[in-house]
Amino acid sequence: MAAIHDLLAQVQDEALRARLEQEINRLSKTKKFGLVFEGHLPECTPLYDIPVKKGAVVAKKAGAVSEMYEVSSIKDGIATCYHKVTEVMDEIPVEELVCVAEFGEPIYPYLKPIDSICNSDESDLWHSLIEADNYHALQLLEYLYAGKVDCIYIDPPYNTGARDWKYNNDYVDGADSYRHSKWLSMIQKRLRLAKKLLNPKDSVLIITIDEKEYLHLGCLLEELFPEANIQMITDVINAKGVSRINQFSRVEEYIFFIQLGDSKPALTNDSMLDFEMTGNYAQNAGDAIPWARMLRRGSNSHREHSENCFYPIFVNEEKEVIESVGYPPGKGNSRDNITTPAGCVAIWPMHANNVEGCWQLSRPKFVKAIEDGTAKLGRKNKLGQWSINYLNQGILNEISEGSVEIIGKDEKGAVILERKEDKLNSAKSVWNRKSHDASLYGSVLLSSIIGKRFSYPKSVYSEYDTIRFFVANKPNALIVDFFAGSGTTLHAINLINSEDGGHRRCIMVTNNEVSEDEAKNLLKQGYVPGDDEWEKLGIAQYVTWPRTKCSIKGIDIKGKALKGNYLVGDKPMADGFKSNVAFFKLGFLDKTSIALGRQLEKMIPILWLKAGAHGRCPQLQDGKKSMIILPENRFAILVDDKHYLEFDEKIKGYPEIQTIYIVTDSEAGYREMIAGYENRNTFQLYRDYLDNFRINTGR
Ligand SMILES: C[S@@+](CC[C@H](N)C(=O)[O-])C[C@H]1O[C@@H](n2cnc3c(N)ncnc32)[C@H](O)[C@@H]1O
Repeated sequence: MAAIHDLLAQVQDEALRARLEQEINRLSKTKKFGLVFEGHLPECTPLYDIPVKKGAVVAKKAGAVSEMYEVSSIKDGIATCYHKVTEVMDEIPVEELVCVAEFGEPIYPYLKPIDSICNSDESDLWHSLIEADNYHALQLLEYLYAGKVDCIYIDPPYNTGARDWKYNNDYVDGADSYRHSKWLSMIQKRLRLAKKLLNPKDSVLIITIDEKEYLHLGCLLEELFPEANIQMITDVINAKGVSRINQFSRVEEYIFFIQLGDSKPALTNDSMLDFEMTGNYAQNAGDAIPWARMLRRGSNSHREHSENCFYPIFVNEEKEVIESVGYPPGKGNSRDNITTPAGCVAIWPMHANNVEGCWQLSRPKFVKAIEDGTAKLGRKNKLGQWSINYLNQGILNEISEGSVEIIGKDEKGAVILERKEDKLNSAKSVWNRKSHDASLYGSVLLSSIIGKRFSYPKSVYSEYDTIRFFVANKPNALIVDFFAGSGTTLHAINLINSEDGGHRRCIMVTNNEVSEDEAKNLLKQGYVPGDDEWEKLGIAQYVTWPRTKCSIKGIDIKGKALKGNYLVGDKPMADGFKSNVAFFKLGFLDKTSIALGRQLEKMIPILWLKAGAHGRCPQLQDGKKSMIILPENRFAILVDDKHYLEFDEKIKGYPEIQTIYIVTDSEAGYREMIAGYENRNTFQLYRDYLDNFRINTGR
């Protein structure tokens, strides 16, 4: 496109140029430039909770979900079905079938509580683990937290070609020529939803990736986040190296940071690149303050760049003081025309080979700096040349901010400074930390907790460092990981919170897939997805949840205390964490069997999450109440608006209730009822459950 514009500029005929310009503009609006990849069959979801009935779209539990049938009748447990594409009729036992929804068809989610761990009485804050396909979970999270999330960290499948992930329930391998476009279709859909969760004013999306997809991902990110500040850093995660045929041995992976609004990484005392925990990367309290050299170096450092900054400084060598400051000789005048006062030597800003340079400060500023004691005579080198020093603007700013203090003056009038607070710096963009070793602090650490159940977890410290850069100054941050795998992210957040007493909250989403070998094994034994025997070996139930519980309790899967200390904070692993987590499974309701108002208890976990997940998630049995007031969960629901006055009176006594849900189908009535609740968050719930939580409609 750029070349066309260059050629266009060469067209002499103005009218023709304008006409061509118009056509090109029209074309560039219709033609897509950038990352082009093919769309694929829509992804579909098995809905194990929904009963198979006449008219349902189904697939075989043991087959691919994309092979869909429509049930035309059911008799004696046998469904007569037509294949949706071939229209071939088949008779299949109902128990072998599962209902299926294509992405785009409305479905009705709820969160089914599976388990919980409460290891902190003091903190009423709860993290969550949601077992779900992340596409649906993200749609639900959009209802809950649109624009509210501070940090999303994801480690998606890297598309290695080694059947490490499934598209539409089918492994994608190296022989699949659509491998990259399938991966891009999958990730694009999820990133579009993820973007809606992020706080546009200040948040970050962090994505780890390796050489297989980093180029495609980078292009996609540019397209999806044109407004963001995107940076990719390199993280050494395996210094031993993994050999690649005819290539360099790989030691690293990449981390994309997509920063929205004011988001910026925290300053640090660790460069992340230089020798471990440099210490000298930060200027610690008590360290000497560096005085800068007055002689300008690098660009614009010659006399002709700044005649005002080319002047002599007269030094009394005997007393070792600056006696006076001469004037610039002016453009074209030789410095030899300037007379040096008796008893002094003239110091000019000179580079090697007698090249005339310039000072950092003009004469008036330098004279003022000497008066203030912020410029001084430096040392004499072996060649007998004096250096002149001054305090640069950074240090002067620090003096006015108070992190550096003037504690006196030396006998020649120069200030004596003391650093009061550590001065931190930006980390570098290549990270080389032993603690990021994915084998030692990922696989080995995870195995020590739950045994060998999961391949390729991240190092908990690499996640700790990565996320901490963006939440260090946000003690109440909300963090989401929707490719949670073994649950390293919550482990890292627990570590961050335990270090500084923060209340950061983490929501992890992971599916419950079993490994390919496991699946073969289970099928051989006659189990199919959806069976308890199958599901209990899935990642969410077999890996993420046990790791989460054990790391919080400080024990391994056999109940023995964990050995060793965490590398950060030197905290014994056996101490566990003061942390609470609720484990949910995203389920789907059958729209034909949901009667008005009856499903309120099913909505409670969703409402609890929306209200900030305070206190243990309540489980209500009786949906017939006219109101539900839950001070420990900080929310209340007016179920029957006829009882508004009574409700209003009651909640006056609970200032801790910050979120109010009102069930009404009348927008006007809702507005009227919330008029007095300006200081609380209020939400309208429709009487029909389905209208509140219909998802998957591509809205
Ligand atoms: C590379 S792993 C993440 C590993 C994780 N960072 C750790 O340290 O354990 C990616 C995980 O995402 C999960 N996953 C893949 N596709 C998913 C989907 N569509 N919905 C939810 N989870 C998915 C897989 O189960 C896999 O465990």
